[in-house]
Amino acid sequence: MNLLIKNGTVINADGRRKADVAVNDGKIISVGDNIKPEAQTEVVDASGLLVLPGAVDVHTHFELDFGDAFSSADDFFTGTKAAACGGVTTIIDFVTPSKSNNTGGQFTGGTAYRIVQFSCVNGSLIEAFDKRKAAADPKVCIDYSLHMGLSEVNDSILDEMEAVMNLGVPSFKVFTTYAFKLTDDEFRRTFARAKELNATVLVHAEDHETLEANRARFIAEGKTDAWHHYLSRPEEVEAKSVKNVIEIAKQTGATIYIVHLACAEGLKAVEEAQKAGHPIYAETCPQYLNFTCNVYKRPDGRNFVCSPAIKGEESRDALWESIRQVRQGDGSLVSMTEEPSPCHLKIGINTVATDHCPFNTSEKDLGINDFTKIPNGVMGVENLYPYMLSEANKGRISFERAVELCSSNPAKIFKLDKKGELIPGKDADIVLYDPKKDFKISQKNMHSTIDYTIWEDTELKGYPVRTYSRGELIYKDGEFLGKAGYGRFLRRK
Ligand code: URP
Ligand code: ZN
Ligand code: ZN
Repeated sequence: MNLLIKNGTVINADGRRKADVAVNDGKIISVGDNIKPEAQTEVVDASGLLVLPGAVDVHTHFELDFGDAFSSADDFFTGTKAAACGGVTTIIDFVTPSKSNNTGGQFTGGTAYRIVQFSCVNGSLIEAFDKRKAAADPKVCIDYSLHMGLSEVNDSILDEMEAVMNLGVPSFKVFTTYAFKLTDDEFRRTFARAKELNATVLVHAEDHETLEANRARFIAEGKTDAWHHYLSRPEEVEAKSVKNVIEIAKQTGATIYIVHLACAEGLKAVEEAQKAGHPIYAETCPQYLNFTCNVYKRPDGRNFVCSPAIKGEESRDALWESIRQVRQGDGSLVSMTEEPSPCHLKIGINTVATDHCPFNTSEKDLGINDFTKIPNGVMGVENLYPYMLSEANKGRISFERAVELCSSNPAKIFKLDKKGELIPGKDADIVLYDPKKDFKISQKNMHSTIDYTIWEDTELKGYPVRTYSRGELIYKDGEFLGKAGYGRFLRRK
């Protein structure tokens, strides 16, 4: 036994107990009472601390190329370093292949000012995967996986999806907006193929026609501030698309996962589909839980520009309500498919992940006079777990629920079978959390490269004090102790 964490309160999604956790060779070997160390065992006293599985952030965009010589601010090193310091021990990022005609795509839609330089030249998914993995491998400090983006759909891409699955990537990401949006028919074909392959499809859902028309109208009218980012993609723009995508999913029986759900009406549609037994999962993000669209009226409103836009109070309350409450009444788990499903989950929001995709001030400032030119995305990978755990510590949800949303559910949905739980046989990805340590977020105490944080001055009750990745201490009391290249690519089934 290399490591023994003694006297802490071990919390998994299904309960808590005072227990010791024994680790050997990067794996948990035992969780129990009064475990005795061996001669060479390092013993850590966790009295007064919570012992939690590391968070699994299944939605990050590190070094996402935006063309014109700039990328999202964190690369695979600084992004995973920040993750580790916030108690995240696994991330899933994206491969974003180019279209086969090599036109790239506009991530922000609208005017053709910013072309994404995707990571391959001829539309081959495998080539794009190889490039992305080669970029990540030497830099990642924690374990990681990748989802495969599909920027177009044709017979050869649908064929190649099987080869992608064989690389250990059983999840595909599609968009209803941006230049690489798919048509309804392409969605249908993708979902049908995913169903055949037993893959999960992640969907960014916003109604492209409506939001583009709104954007063009506002710009023509000289309404160029960040508030009009929200007004161009308000609640109904997201809800319309979520409902449409769910209808297509129902027709094909595919397992889909709605990313960054931010509106009450879309959530209602998800919950109705889940209650009817459809394998539809929903993720929301901390930015949608902590802020409202009023942030877009602030002088630094452009720093909050992300898509979907942050919505109003009613949506924020609905998201929290879904998170707080197990809709089943009796708390029982619900099977969402008749066939063996990736997991059995409760109705409502299933995961909280970050969509971490920040840009530095100078890049956000590109849109100072035109909100359509603001690169979309906000930071969150270092804030996800501390924020959700702090909300638990303040009594809004249980610690078990925070662990379920941030660690065990994402691990189950995306088939990370060694992550998400502190039980024998799982990887020793462990966070020690001090519920008594108060913490005020500031750009100065964050670990990514970004020159501001939308979370500035947010006061948290409790904070992670240690993070272990496969039994190695990679973060302690504010200090990063990990190494670039330590993280491993996780092949999923
Ligand atoms: O605004 C966002 N979310 N930027 C990242 C790309 C995406 O849509 O997820
Ligand atoms: Zn998105
Ligand atoms: Zn995203």
